[in-house]
Amino acid sequence: MQTDHAGNNAARELASSIGTPLSSHATRVMLLGAGELGKEVIIALQRLGVEVIAVDRYANAPGHQVAHRAHVIDMTDPAALRALVEKERPHLIVPEIEAIATDALAEIEASGTATVIPTARATQLTMNREGIRRLAAETLGLPTSPYAFAQSLDEMKAAIATIGFPCVVKPVMSSSGKGQSVLRSEADIEPAWNHAMAGGRVNHGRVIVEGFIDFEYEITQLTVRAADPVSGETQTYFCEPIGHVQVAGDYVESWQPQAMAPAALEKARDVAAKVTTALGGRGLFGVELFVRGDDVWFSEVSPRPHDTGLVTLATQRFSEFELHARAILGLPVDTSLSAPGASAVIYGGIDEAGIAFEGVREALAVPGADLRLFGKPESFVKRRMGVAVATGADTGEARERAKLAASKVRPVSTK
Ligand SMILES: Nc1ncnc2c1ncn2[C@@H]1O[C@H](COP(=O)(O)OP(=O)(O)OP(=O)(O)O)[C@@H](O)[C@H]1O
Ligand SMILES: [Mg+2]
Repeated sequence: MQTDHAGNNAARELASSIGTPLSSHATRVMLLGAGELGKEVIIALQRLGVEVIAVDRYANAPGHQVAHRAHVIDMTDPAALRALVEKERPHLIVPEIEAIATDALAEIEASGTATVIPTARATQLTMNREGIRRLAAETLGLPTSPYAFAQSLDEMKAAIATIGFPCVVKPVMSSSGKGQSVLRSEADIEPAWNHAMAGGRVNHGRVIVEGFIDFEYEITQLTVRAADPVSGETQTYFCEPIGHVQVAGDYVESWQPQAMAPAALEKARDVAAKVTTALGGRGLFGVELFVRGDDVWFSEVSPRPHDTGLVTLATQRFSEFELHARAILGLPVDTSLSAPGASAVIYGGIDEAGIAFEGVREALAVPGADLRLFGKPESFVKRRMGVAVATGADTGEARERAKLAASKVRPVSTK
């Protein structure tokens, strides 16, 4: 609770006045990671008159292009991170990715130099599947798939002997489905181990084995911890659930609202409230849940906007990015849905720097559709380069429109 009070005070001070950007009274926010999600958070902050510093590991990242200042550093290097924070002196540090020297963030937070969003501990726990899984299942008692951790092929075999087939193996430090396999029989074990060792963010040599959940559908429950406008105390707010489709660990389509049985929705929100309260601080979280009938399993949580939440650019009065910006500044939020909608991902399709997009006019001619092209300097076949979003009379119509709009956009070579 102590962190909550500290967070409250810092946020209250920020909310009571926002200074002029580029002056000595500026309210400064540093984004660690400046991809497409960070870019939208930056735009939301810019609209509130905040001075924004965007940091990424490569030049001209999407968020770099809309910030007051842009820096390129290795964010996993604690010394580089500390030096940049000393130089820029942000009031708030907003991690957009997991691969950050989170121990340095903890030191920065402890020294009172800046507030880490939502908390340094949340970034530490969620960057490693072991930290968040043990918190959710063992400390909070939330329903999850059965799981075990393994540090070698032999340990993995032993873990699978108790969990059984089918199961899922993932490096403890990885995202976007990297290094993940679904195992159906003994023959899959060794390839899965090798795949995990090659796909981890750092070769940590550690994996989680999870029992396979035969879910009906999966959702992202966007959950916001923000100040109550009257009391100033941190409250939990929920967006409408987002349904999505994942292909090879990457989201390709999402929609909102996902229809849910009342009992399942209640459980989903109970799980989301418990895990976000335990992580603390202020901001928006993406709680990933599996659902079958009235049963809900916690999968993982991002202490930041979620890629499947790009749909909220079309569906909510305030997008998940605007909600995050408001929450971290200590400002009131409104999570209401304005229309059913959907999003569909646009992949690069080619490996090349400086590509062009054709068909934008046709995409925007689709009724209810809108587009984001992220401005990434280099395209890869499976790199997310843009997203189409659309509203509709219902999510079915919106999904058709979003997919149609996305299909009209053609990445082309400029060579
Ligand atoms: N135990 C499981 N049972 C069934 N399906 C699973 C399980 N774990 C993961 N999946 C499927 O794989 C997807 C990706 O898994 P997970 O979210 O753990 O990986 P990730 O690398 O963190 O992905 P991202 O970074 O995109 O969220 C899930 O959204 C789900 O569709
Ligand atoms: Mg996930």
